[in-house]
Amino acid sequence: MVDSLDKIVSLCKRRGFIFPSSEIYGGLSAVYDYGPLGVELKNNIKKLWWQDIVYKRDNVVGLDAAIFMNKKVWEASGHTTLFTEEFEGRPFNLMFETYHREKQKKNLIYLRPETAQGVFVNYLNILDTQRAKLPFGIAQIGKSFRNEVTPEHFLIKILEFEQMELEYFVSESEAEKCYNFWRNERLNWYLNLGIKKENLRLKEHSNDELAHYAKACTDVEYRFPFGWKEIEGIANRGDYDLRQHQKFSGQNFPQPLPYIVESSSGIDRIFLALLCDAYCEVRGGRTKTTKPTKEIEVVLRLNPKLSPVKVAVLPLIKKPQLIKIAKQIKTRLSENFLVQYDEKDSIGRRYRRQDEIGTPICITVDFESIENQDVTLRDRDSMNQIRVKINRLAEIIPQILAGQKIEKFGKIIK
Ligand code: GAP
Repeated sequence: MVDSLDKIVSLCKRRGFIFPSSEIYGGLSAVYDYGPLGVELKNNIKKLWWQDIVYKRDNVVGLDAAIFMNKKVWEASGHTTLFTEEFEGRPFNLMFETYHREKQKKNLIYLRPETAQGVFVNYLNILDTQRAKLPFGIAQIGKSFRNEVTPEHFLIKILEFEQMELEYFVSESEAEKCYNFWRNERLNWYLNLGIKKENLRLKEHSNDELAHYAKACTDVEYRFPFGWKEIEGIANRGDYDLRQHQKFSGQNFPQPLPYIVESSSGIDRIFLALLCDAYCEVRGGRTKTTKPTKEIEVVLRLNPKLSPVKVAVLPLIKKPQLIKIAKQIKTRLSENFLVQYDEKDSIGRRYRRQDEIGTPICITVDFESIENQDVTLRDRDSMNQIRVKINRLAEIIPQILAGQKIEKFGKIIK
């Protein structure tokens, strides 16, 4: 666990997780770009969420609604009047506005401030096309935009962010049970990602904290170096949204209207929580081939399922025979996940570079590899090494990435 946010900001910049937006022009406040490693981590978060929420459940389907919508959506949802924060003593609406064609009031459209409304306005389409019966869910991942007046802590309050939202439709009588179910389900999801239990908590909103649409809401909070902060909200939205859309659109919705239990998480905040949680500093000399030093080394102990780079392939030294084998291994493994090839600097430095970005496995090709067709496999966290045949790598590595210890596949080298 990291003790200061500055260390994460620095790691993100140094290793290509996150860059300030349009940096060469001085940046843009509260807007960030995801670099080569950042986009991998972000995609992995999304993939695990989608697998858990959509693929593993019989009654949840996916959706990818457009960012722009008819502006009546936001009148119906209450956002045009109620989605405000106080700024210079006056209520300030947080929705970004733009225009379709000329800049005239009648052409005003909004950038969506939540993905949820895209789900609600497609409720009838999903009922019609998917033969959905209560209870069922619609899941969506996508960008949302808010004209935040007081940006906070790096990725916490940004203008453009990504949400993963599940809208679960359930009968009124089942809504409370369902709300409790999703609170536990979502807390467990974070624990299963490997976030430490002591850094997570559920915090229920008091009545005066509830959003205009919610009957009840619980935040999943993470203990960041600057304090506890919401990463997700689970809300019982009642029938507010469908009732409003029925009224404003004039469409006939099947009666009675279901209640909606929502799980709404922000990928950028989860991303930051994962980095803070995985960050470790150890005294130097962690690699068995280097002498102990006083230097601080960073290890990102990410769940391998989240690690941006899954495997690094390293020829021990820059000799053509070793490079050839290493590149063949890299090509073979790259079919399934991101593999990095690295031949620059000492092997110790290369291990450290990989530890710092959370790569779970390093494969080293040495002169024995030429004779025996085997390589050294090194585990990031224990630093244990085993020797394995090259032709077994494709079978073994996915098992290690799924959580198996390397000892299962060979004797630890002393
Ligand atoms: N549909 C409900 C909804 O949008 P919210 O609590 O306003 O609820 C849900 O937002 C999640 O979206 C938050 O828990 C947070 O992770 C993320 N989020 C909201 N505003 C954000 C911002 N300005 N920057 C980064 N993430 C944000």
